[in-house]
Amino acid sequence: MQTNTLLAEQSNTQVLTVYRNQFLQDVIEGLTGSPKRLDSKYFYDANGDKLFQQIMQCPEYYPTRCEMEILKRQRGAITSTINALLPSYDVIELGAGDATKSVYLLQEMIQTGTDFTYYPVDISGSIISELENKLPQTLPGLQVRGLHGEYMRMLHQASELSNKNKLVLFMGANIGNFDTRQALNFCRQLRRQLKEGDLLMIGFDLKKHPAVILDAYSDSQGITRAFNLNLLHRINRELNADFKLRLFDHYASYDPATGACKSYLVSLANQKVRIGNTVTVEFERDECIYMEISQKYTPQEIQQLAFSAGFTPVADFRDTKNWFADCLWKV
Ligand SMILES: C[S@@+](CC[C@H](N)C(=O)[O-])C[C@H]1O[C@@H](n2cnc3c(N)ncnc32)[C@H](O)[C@@H]1O
Repeated sequence: MQTNTLLAEQSNTQVLTVYRNQFLQDVIEGLTGSPKRLDSKYFYDANGDKLFQQIMQCPEYYPTRCEMEILKRQRGAITSTINALLPSYDVIELGAGDATKSVYLLQEMIQTGTDFTYYPVDISGSIISELENKLPQTLPGLQVRGLHGEYMRMLHQASELSNKNKLVLFMGANIGNFDTRQALNFCRQLRRQLKEGDLLMIGFDLKKHPAVILDAYSDSQGITRAFNLNLLHRINRELNADFKLRLFDHYASYDPATGACKSYLVSLANQKVRIGNTVTVEFERDECIYMEISQKYTPQEIQQLAFSAGFTPVADFRDTKNWFADCLWKV
């Protein structure tokens, strides 16, 4: 074996070990705290990626269709707005997932002769490998460099790889996975990593009839349920735990007053779960694990967020139902 290969494999193993230790620490902290919680960023192992792709196909899950409509129908207007503001840039997409929507924008940029590198960032290694393999075939001429890891660390890495201006994409209402206080902190951190003239396009799910929102997070085929339970399965497999999945159920709630849609797993019995060799967590019957927030916004709340984080809103692209907004902000 070549020395270089050996070193690469050793450093990969070290990264995996650090990642697994962090995962274990976050799970133990979350499940021994009150109320119990798990971090939604761990949903996305290879199976979680597949289940999320199925969620996006569910008839009740409107956000993907709305944002897809925006990108398909308005990609020309979006690209010309961006190109008028920035003569030269690279595209960094935070939490790119399978990039099914952003490919429309990337395609438009290639067709209009923009010279850029696309840096998809994702915490899921399997999705980054898939993007690096498939995108150059789907979009010939696209320069792709995948970055596997956390949003901010990878954004910093992208800045070290290129000193061009940036267009940062944060689509799919990923911002909704933070509560409003965390979202403001996140946007402020983003602002600090960007320079004069950089652009940020963020997808927001807008407040609408509460029943429409709630249905999107408790689909009739039970895929959202399977997606949530998959995290327990992942903890069993990767952290040597013994969750019995049949003893947990999925529950979603939406509060129209705050715009917070929250997902929980409910313990169906008094039970003990072992995690690793040393920790046992006790659950009472009906006790909930808080899994994820999907925060909804009004257009006024979005504007306020932009200004409070130090950005200037420049354009706002909505679908025909007015259910979703891709907002372009400038530093
Ligand atoms: C809800 S999916 C959305 C994917 C895509 N943006 C879209 O609109 O279809 C969220 C994606 O963000 C990634 N992700 C979640 N938390 C992350 C984090 N802290 N750092 C990097 N990626 C993260 C997940 O792995 C997943 O692929």
